Amino acid sequence: MKLEEIRNISVLGAGIMGHGIAQSFLMGGYPVSLYDVKGSILDTAKAHMKNNLELFRQFGLIGEQDIPLAFQRLSTHTDLKAAVEGSDFIVEAAPEDLPIKQALFQRVESFCRKDTIIATNTSSLTLREIGAQVKDKERLVITHWFNPPHIVPTVEVVKGEQTSDETMATAYGLLAKIKKVPVKIYRELPGFVVNRIQVAMVREVFDLYEQGIASAEDIDRAVKGSFGFRLASIGPLLTADLGGLELWLRVCENLLPHIQSSKESPKALQGLVSQGHYGIKTGKGFYDYALDFSKEELDAAIQKRDREFLNRLKQLYWTDGK
Ligand SMILES: NC(=O)c1ccc[n+]([C@@H]2O[C@H](COP(=O)([O-])OP(=O)(O)OC[C@H]3O[C@@H](n4cnc5c(N)ncnc54)[C@H](O)[C@@H]3O)[C@@H](O)[C@H]2O)c1
Repeated sequence: MKLEEIRNISVLGAGIMGHGIAQSFLMGGYPVSLYDVKGSILDTAKAHMKNNLELFRQFGLIGEQDIPLAFQRLSTHTDLKAAVEGSDFIVEAAPEDLPIKQALFQRVESFCRKDTIIATNTSSLTLREIGAQVKDKERLVITHWFNPPHIVPTVEVVKGEQTSDETMATAYGLLAKIKKVPVKIYRELPGFVVNRIQVAMVREVFDLYEQGIASAEDIDRAVKGSFGFRLASIGPLLTADLGGLELWLRVCENLLPHIQSSKESPKALQGLVSQGHYGIKTGKGFYDYALDFSKEELDAAIQKRDREFLNRLKQLYWTDGK
């Protein structure tokens, strides 16, 4: 299916990722059918979308009228057939559970047209596994969004073994059209591109913490104020070019023998998790949180994060505004 033929979008799963993905397509002007297994989940998703759209309006990223117009284009469903029939592009954002995704893909194929593109937001499964029972596999593709999906620009568009070039081009073009920043990943590999890079970095971060080289606060401050500060504007390869490749070669030769390269899970992480410390939700992770840390405080922390991200989105990516 070609980009010009895409009229209707469906999003399956209205959780953390699904409602933000739906919002992105609504802001891009597309009608969206949002599906989940329970009406109450869809109600919560709509409430989140309303708040998030309001935040976009406050930052001047959308106009006042865009909010009611977005809701006019949204339909919500607990009936899968009603959610996908007539759809041209479907994004699956159901739990990261292979049997759930396989069953969903098989049912979806029975309800939609042969040429409807079916994309999955999987973080760790392959299209070969998820689409095992699907007959027309050339229309399957991975579109991997990042949380919060309505704000973070990049979406990895990953080609499976049988994904057609046309499906890749349409998924890429569609995401670009709704102001996301799609990147093409030419073949499936665990972690695609972004999570591989992220995990390589955090392995070293956890190790430095474990060795007591610096406090959690100072490691976070060091990263945010140095390469974190740079990376929002210039990627690592351009950074290397600007710094001089002969210098980077010397730095790699000198430091790589000392950098953590274990294939095992980081000890710092294993230690905390084995003691039941899962981070903010249990009151302790690398930082301590007040035991009475309430849902309101968590919501306020997320709002603060989103406001900072929206400032950056406006400045770096959404230059034509609204
Ligand atoms: N959370 C993240 O940061 C993140 C980032 C990138 C990718 N992902 C991927 O996105 C997908 C969704 O993750 P999430 O964090 O939004 O999960 P989530 O648990 O917040 O949401 C999943 C939603 O799917 C619904 N659901 C359950 N069974 C379903 C079914 N049979 N059909 C349709 N929906 C069903 C649930 O009710 C829930 O609302 C996963 O594949 C995950 O790996 C998540």
